[in-house]
Amino acid sequence: MEKTRVAIVGMGTVGTGVARLLLDHGDRLARHAGRILWLEKATVRDLKKNRGIQLPKGILTDDLDSILKNPDIEVVAHLVGGIEPARTIMLQLLDAGKDVVTANKALLAEHGEELFDRARALGRTIAFEASVGGGIPIIANISQCFSANQIRSVRGILNGTSNYIITSMEESGVDYAKALKHAQELGYAEADPTMDVDGSDAAQKLAILAHLAFGIRVKWREIHRRGLEAFQLDDLNYASELGYRIKLIATAQLHESTNQLELHVSPTLIRRGRPLAEVRGAYNAIMVDGDAVGDMFFHGKGAGQMPTASAVVADMIDTAAGRTDITFRRLELWSDRDSKIDLMPYEQSKGRYYMRFHVADEPGVLSQITGILGKHAISIASIIQHEPNNVFHADDKRHAVPLVIMTHQSSESAAMAANLEICKLSSVSNQAVYLRVSEGDKA
Ligand code: NAP
Ligand code: HSE
Repeated sequence: MEKTRVAIVGMGTVGTGVARLLLDHGDRLARHAGRILWLEKATVRDLKKNRGIQLPKGILTDDLDSILKNPDIEVVAHLVGGIEPARTIMLQLLDAGKDVVTANKALLAEHGEELFDRARALGRTIAFEASVGGGIPIIANISQCFSANQIRSVRGILNGTSNYIITSMEESGVDYAKALKHAQELGYAEADPTMDVDGSDAAQKLAILAHLAFGIRVKWREIHRRGLEAFQLDDLNYASELGYRIKLIATAQLHESTNQLELHVSPTLIRRGRPLAEVRGAYNAIMVDGDAVGDMFFHGKGAGQMPTASAVVADMIDTAAGRTDITFRRLELWSDRDSKIDLMPYEQSKGRYYMRFHVADEPGVLSQITGILGKHAISIASIIQHEPNNVFHADDKRHAVPLVIMTHQSSESAAMAANLEICKLSSVSNQAVYLRVSEGDKA
């Protein structure tokens, strides 16, 4: 059987998983690729670090040139995170004539245009299934299987670390810091986990999906995003009392009448029992709505060593077998549509809202708040107010009670303005929470 020589740059969580699959399941991979995938080299920064894997002699190196200058190595799994030196390494690999497979969504979201242009100019490919949704084959599905459809929306949980933290807090009462530490120990988190928890990682993935699904090139930093800082354990409990769970949801919704794409990453209340509400731990899930096929739901492990390695190795097999350029064709196909769909200004998006205020327990406060909501044309769907439990109003030690309001549909700009105005009331603490609530049939 013919051999394709492959290499790995970066033997961290994912790279080690890729090496395991290549070395332990070579026969299976060869059957699927129609050729042997022969691991020739694996590069790291620190040769002394224990990686929990025994590589055959001569494979592990700290010398990138041993890959760049070896013309026999055709396919390289690029598994270094962050922007630099990841970007330079990827350009060097392409310039050296390698086809690249990557899991680095930050790099693609930031420098995708430059990297894909370079790959195209050199007749090389960059496969990136593992960059979104870990082991879930969402890139292949959106690129290939929805071709007969106008995709109307893509919504999902795209970050495993933050979903793991939310689930641990909600189900096991683990505090935020401990849950994050567990996620790091389990290999789910980025080297700098800030991007996992503040919505940036999900926004980077959403930018990639929006490009594939709608042909719109969006800079991920332009995507409105909020993360786990936007709510607290109390909100998980109130949401539960109301029959909801809070999930960090990435949304791409096409508004066909205006040809605008609504894009954001927002902690969102989703009714319990709906598919996205039941996604637990480091699992990810993506719901894609196509005009012919309707809703499709993809669910699987969105982070972690072997699920991510599964997607990387599938790309390596496809690349070795010459099947990866389908994604490039999709990107090219869409390039002339870029001007037709515009990004919707976030303030124009609409939704229902969950608002929580800490208010002084005294007459007239509720009517002040409902008055402000009314002024902004926001209609109230329900209110919860519990008895005071010795919580004092932050500013003047009057008893404070949490007031939770669920609204009917309003615009984001009205919800934002009302929220700000309510927080200025002397009877309301300025630590308010307001979150989006998913419409019943869209989760
Ligand atoms: P990681 O554990 O931090 O591993 C990164 C590896 O890159 C390390 O082995 C490091 O070497 C190596 N490296 C850094 N700079 C290098 C250089 N200049 N030359 C050679 N090697 C270098 O990261 P990871 O979790 O495996 O993630 C890798 C990529 O996959 C990231 O882009 C991440 O966003 C993405 N991803 C991760 C997951 C996941 O669940 N972990 C899931 C999907 C996507 P040393 O070990 O010697 O320091
Ligand atoms: N840090 C990422 C996450 C890895 O937690 O989802 C998968 O991209």
